[in-house]
Amino acid sequence: MKLLVTGGAGFIGSAVVRLAVARGHAVVNLDALSYAACLQNVASVADNPLYAFEHADIRDRAALERIFATHRPDAVMHLAAETHVDRSIDGPGDFISTNVTGTYEMLDAARRFWDGEGRPKRFRFHHISTDEVFGSLSPAGLFTETTPYDPRSPYAASKAASDHLVRAWHHTYGLPVVMTNCSNNYGPFHFPEKLIPVIILNALAGKPLPIYGDGSNIRDWLYVDDHADALLLVLEKGQTGRNYNIGGENERSNLELVRALCALLDEKRPLAQGSYAEQITFVTDRPGHDVRYAIDPTRIRTELGWRPSVTVEEGLARTVDWYLANEGWWRPLQNRAGVGQRLGVKA
Ligand SMILES: NC(=O)c1ccc[n+]([C@@H]2O[C@H](COP(=O)([O-])OP(=O)(O)OC[C@H]3O[C@@H](n4cnc5c(N)ncnc54)[C@H](O)[C@@H]3O)[C@@H](O)[C@H]2O)c1
Repeated sequence: MKLLVTGGAGFIGSAVVRLAVARGHAVVNLDALSYAACLQNVASVADNPLYAFEHADIRDRAALERIFATHRPDAVMHLAAETHVDRSIDGPGDFISTNVTGTYEMLDAARRFWDGEGRPKRFRFHHISTDEVFGSLSPAGLFTETTPYDPRSPYAASKAASDHLVRAWHHTYGLPVVMTNCSNNYGPFHFPEKLIPVIILNALAGKPLPIYGDGSNIRDWLYVDDHADALLLVLEKGQTGRNYNIGGENERSNLELVRALCALLDEKRPLAQGSYAEQITFVTDRPGHDVRYAIDPTRIRTELGWRPSVTVEEGLARTVDWYLANEGWWRPLQNRAGVGQRLGVKA
């Protein structure tokens, strides 16, 4: 298949690009190279004849039309987005613009291309979204595909809006779409403003390890390569018009997660004395911080036979090893605007 992947220079998009090329798919990576992008994420496939890069913005209709006409993809995997909740609190406009208007431009460009090609049945528009559209869970319960939407941050609201647009393009225009909503990802190439890399890199630098509120907020963690694998499966085997929740069934409170990372670092890069856990610091909570996210992955497991391959213990160990071995990747990214600063506190 020839895939047009948007956001392929980001964290998850680059994992999709690397896996798709490894499986023999041709991939066109469309990315605007925002602050969160890094072309090193796809350096391992950059010279592969199956790979092409298009530096373009998903809000630029003329560029999208040119890219569709030039590459004539069999499928779109739409991951490009603004993704950092804290930044969405300080500057929601970029999130509305890229995540809502950008998704509209992608959908409409894809629809026109698909129409022009004679509406091929096997064409797919795969929209990649988040479990954050479902809101916040109490200690009990899980998000299923029919959980009502209840987004609570500007990021989550912009992703929810984009999900609604995708459904509308399917029902109104017949565009063959599939949709996925995934829990928190982690792993190599995770941009150093997100929780897990912040903790690893602050620990190594002897800085405080910031935990929002009391650290009791719970997330369901999935290793990024398992997400990429699930995404390719849904693209190939998912039913059009259907959404699939993807999760690792690995619930951890933020405090548990940070303690686990400290224990791994104590083992792999021991301090002269004491534990990295002594650097844990509780800081002002994020406004509107969702209490708990947890995915019920029954649909993707029973209908498509998907299961994560990596336990959270193994995935965290691999992630710590990767950051210890790849300072050349993360060190320059720490100089990008806003990285290392506390954002999203002034609600
Ligand atoms: N990270 C997670 O835990 C998670 C979980 C579930 C779903 N998702 C979704 O997966 C997708 C990818 O997330 P990520 O964490 O890899 O994001 P990321 O922030 O690491 O990467 C986003 C990529 O999109 C590109 N981009 C941003 N605006 C663009 C624009 N206007 N035009 C073209 N490219 C643009 C950036 O340059 C970057 O390469 C997003 O849609 C996100 O909502 C993420």
